[in-house]
Amino acid sequence: MVLKDVFKRPLLDLRISVTDRCNMRCRYCMPREHFDKNHTYLPKSDILSFEEIVHVVESLLPSGLKKVRLTGGEPLIRKDLHKLIEQLRAVSPELDIALTTNAHLLSDSIERLKKAGISRITVSLDAVDIDVYQSMGDTTSTPDSILASIDKTLGLGIPVKVNTVVQKGINDQQLIPLISQMTSRNVPIRFIEYMDVGGTNSWNLDHVMTGNEMRSLIENEFGRLEPIEPNHPSDVARKFCTESGQVIGFIESISNPFCGDCSRARLSANGSIFTCLFATKGFDIRGILRMDATKDEISEAISSIWIQRKDRYSETRSETTDSKRIEMSFIGG
Ligand code: GTP
Ligand code: 5AD
Ligand code: SF4
Ligand code: SF4
Repeated sequence: MVLKDVFKRPLLDLRISVTDRCNMRCRYCMPREHFDKNHTYLPKSDILSFEEIVHVVESLLPSGLKKVRLTGGEPLIRKDLHKLIEQLRAVSPELDIALTTNAHLLSDSIERLKKAGISRITVSLDAVDIDVYQSMGDTTSTPDSILASIDKTLGLGIPVKVNTVVQKGINDQQLIPLISQMTSRNVPIRFIEYMDVGGTNSWNLDHVMTGNEMRSLIENEFGRLEPIEPNHPSDVARKFCTESGQVIGFIESISNPFCGDCSRARLSANGSIFTCLFATKGFDIRGILRMDATKDEISEAISSIWIQRKDRYSETRSETTDSKRIEMSFIGG
């Protein structure tokens, strides 16, 4: 039986964070002054094992789960991640298994990920200009190395998408060169409005470039953008196509929220279910997992959380008080 929340939204998509650590320090996500040596990461014993994660996924398959997305922090930091993918693939040949990564470690692991049965990869890339890339990500890695991992992934026949977080006055001049790079590779790119997640990035509306503003900038360069029908009502991106066939998506959580069809649940690395990206608390399921709960018992526990779900934060953010929200690096976007 398909599981539905208070607004009749099914649970189709589980975003699984496999670690709260990352090898980048993007200013908008893990500013180094907050995520320094004094920051407390999850202790290893709190983090779900691959077997525990697979148990959760298996328990949700009968109620309609179609997609899992592995996130972090940076998921490729988790040792032997390909083994998790292998185990997930073994429980469902048709499950869509995606990965969102900053791609620093992608070149070295992509063959193993492919063999394990990954369906597709989403790479975060905020700039092609080396200075902009390095200052936004507070990293010494280079955009060329990320482009090389994208090429290697495509060469193995694995579909790739690129995600770019856009911050006004910081990387808005990168939209055109990023689109040009992706057009030559036939890779869809999605521009994400800078969101008010977590509590460490000093988010401010002045730094948000709206989807409308991005589209006028892009249309000035590439001509009219043609809207494309979404594949599924719960898609986060509004998609458009340039005259030359490049697909460009806009994830407009600020200016054009998409909670109406939101079918995403999130599982944190330490085993809590969050029913919204902007939730302030999760529901622990590690407890019952470690008491040897059966698949039916886990499914019942998650169902009882989901049927009470009323979240639609992006649509109500102006009415919401600012209680402490979880960090993006903890819940994986
Ligand atoms: P696809 O299956 O490829 O469409 O994946 P996706 O877009 O669901 O996942 P991805 O990790 O690529 O997410 C892209 C961006 O959208 C990230 O910045 C996410 O944080 C953001 N995002 C994803 N889901 C939600 C959501 O439910 N609410 C909000 N506000 N943002 C979301
Ligand atoms: N606003 C929008 N997107 C963000 N991401 C991380 N922090 C933010 C933010 N404040 C993006 C990452 C990645 C995805 C999982 O979330 O760049 O593409
Ligand atoms: Fe950047 Fe993603 Fe790491 Fe956050 S989790 S610091 S967005 S690479
Ligand atoms: Fe879903 Fe919450 Fe994002 Fe709305 S804000 S789309 S309910 S995760």
